[in-house]
Amino acid sequence: MEPAPTPDPATGVSSAPEGTSDVLAEVTQSGGADLARRRFFRQFATDVVQTAATAVGVVGALQRSSAEAASAILGTDAASIARLTAGAPPVVDQQNPASGAPAGFRTAYRWDREVLFLVDQRRLPDQLVEEVCRSAGDVAHAIREMIVRGAPAMGQVAAIGLALQARSASQMPPFMRRAHLQGSANALVAARPTAVNVRWAVDRCLAAIAAVDELNPDGTVVADAVWREAEAIVAESAEAHERLALLGLAELPVPEGRPLQILTHCNTGPLACGQFGTALGIVQAALHAGREIHVYVDETRPYLQGARLTAWELAQAGVPHTLIADSAAGWVLSTREVDAVLVGADRIAANGDTANKIGTYPLAVLAQRHGVPLYVCAPTSSIDLSTPAGDDIQIEHRPPIEVTHVRGAVIAPPETAALNPAFDVTPAELITAIVTEEGVLRPPFGPALARAIATAIAARDDLPTADAAGVAG
Ligand code: MRU
Repeated sequence: MEPAPTPDPATGVSSAPEGTSDVLAEVTQSGGADLARRRFFRQFATDVVQTAATAVGVVGALQRSSAEAASAILGTDAASIARLTAGAPPVVDQQNPASGAPAGFRTAYRWDREVLFLVDQRRLPDQLVEEVCRSAGDVAHAIREMIVRGAPAMGQVAAIGLALQARSASQMPPFMRRAHLQGSANALVAARPTAVNVRWAVDRCLAAIAAVDELNPDGTVVADAVWREAEAIVAESAEAHERLALLGLAELPVPEGRPLQILTHCNTGPLACGQFGTALGIVQAALHAGREIHVYVDETRPYLQGARLTAWELAQAGVPHTLIADSAAGWVLSTREVDAVLVGADRIAANGDTANKIGTYPLAVLAQRHGVPLYVCAPTSSIDLSTPAGDDIQIEHRPPIEVTHVRGAVIAPPETAALNPAFDVTPAELITAIVTEEGVLRPPFGPALARAIATAIAARDDLPTADAAGVAG
């Protein structure tokens, strides 16, 4: 991976260059940018709908058009837009990254045959820059370091990482190639063990390899098979998230005389999901439907995905929102009219128990206490029927420094021991419903989840392959 000085949001190794926040602030506040932003999101939604109609092979076009539209909003120059739309590597000015081509890029990633560009989510909201990955190892590193995060997005980029690796390994002798790809797959799956979408995507790529014979003497056949699978995963995900958002929207009440009020945790928008978003996808769908909506955003300690990423995405989308400390959620639920709590998922066990960002479980307890419905919003790729219940979900533990420091500032006495589980498990009985692209699932979740998975697999089998759709591999 091409190195770049990276300020970690928890450890804050370095701060934003002077003026970069100003650029974003200007964009956020100016009325003209607001109009452009609204147009962008409308266009973005339209693109996603079009993607649904022609599921395979159009994601590159979607991402290019999103990049173009975002560039227009953020004022990126024509040459940069041309570079972005041509899929060429962006020019990143390390002294002022927000001034370069990546400033115009808005979705979590884009890629071509040789390179995957990731928005470096550790740097948001101060800087909008991309990190370049050329191998599965680069992608595993990016996942582990949270350059890219959010379970669905991690799954998609893991598939692309494996596709990049299969291409570079295509000249190896078959046995060596097989070992090499299996090692890459293992590294990707191990990078962040709770998010099952990574394993789901990697397993699909391995199945695609097996289908053309993992010891096929022609390595390009294997590489093409992984590439097609990665493209299919991304295209299907875009379509799935859009359907999920519309189903979720239909579930929400229409309060009289006031905006719909949502409380959310962590970040579940396009940065976390690739194209559209899950819980935040529903919020975007509400906005596009002309609904008045207001979102309470949990800051999401310790990594601050709510404060840094959700608030940033909502500001860009023009959605009124209020940031709260996680510990304020109980007060908000007891004193404000909150209609629903919407959260994502990193893994949903076969019985409906759900692992999601640390802090989701106490939020679910509070929501139940106050009679507010809690919806887990997640694609079927987040469902893991091989994990019977929440106790069986492996919980990732992250470095204590993310707790003892906030953006580089130490907040505890030296040597303080800190525990940093990245996820907790919300028991199924605290979940009102699970919104997936295959329907809104209600208790008992066991059979409903099994049906949703069966439907998703059947729908995938019915999709035209990239070859049949006439898409170049
Ligand atoms: O540690 P993160 O930022 O990857 O955690 C993200 C979450 O917990 C999200 O809620 C989850 O991945 C679902 S994203 C639609």
